[in-house]
Amino acid sequence: MNLSPDQLPDADAMERLATTHSVAETIELGRKIGTALQPRDVIALVGRLGAGKTHLAKGLALGLGVGSDREVNSPTFVLINEYWGRLPIRHIDAYRLSRAEEFAALGVDEMLDAGSVVIVEWADRVAEAIPSDALWIEIEAIEESTRTFVLRTTSGKMGERVQSCLVGPPGRDV
Ligand SMILES: Nc1ncnc2c1ncn2[C@@H]1O[C@H](COP(=O)(O)OP(=O)(O)O)[C@@H](O)[C@H]1O
Ligand SMILES: [Mg+2]
Repeated sequence: MNLSPDQLPDADAMERLATTHSVAETIELGRKIGTALQPRDVIALVGRLGAGKTHLAKGLALGLGVGSDREVNSPTFVLINEYWGRLPIRHIDAYRLSRAEEFAALGVDEMLDAGSVVIVEWADRVAEAIPSDALWIEIEAIEESTRTFVLRTTSGKMGERVQSCLVGPPGRDV
């Protein structure tokens, strides 16, 4: 997997590109990011059906200490899945939500106040309700097994944590 820092829009922001060539690499990317997460972090996932949002979420859960035997699936019908690792995790699917108010009504503020990490698939559908310090990850399917990930945040602290968990020899980050 190759990672290259991109242009920084402003001093506080971070933008980074990652590419994976298999499901295993995507899970590993998520796992690395998961190790850097803290209470109240929001991970906003964007990408079409089959992009890899749920596989990245699997990795995030692993990195947060959720056992690999715990199923991580798209919470399409239940809207919210709950996992417990070193932090509580709430995995939300916003696909069926049409307004930001519906997202807030799920009790997201309470989840964050309780110290959870909140992972949101289809976050672009409820973008106005996503906290400003979230880590946005936009996933695109380039080929059958190639996925690109654009990681963005306007939070300097989140940006630093993500950068430091992804460091490694050039081109060998995952
Ligand atoms: N590099 C890759 N990373 C993630 N998924 C991949 C990759 N290459 C192929 N795939 C396939 O793409 C699909 C991604 O599914 P999923 O993670 O459920 O996507 P989403 O939640 O975005 O709808 C799976 O069928 C998976 O096998
Ligand atoms: Mg999914």
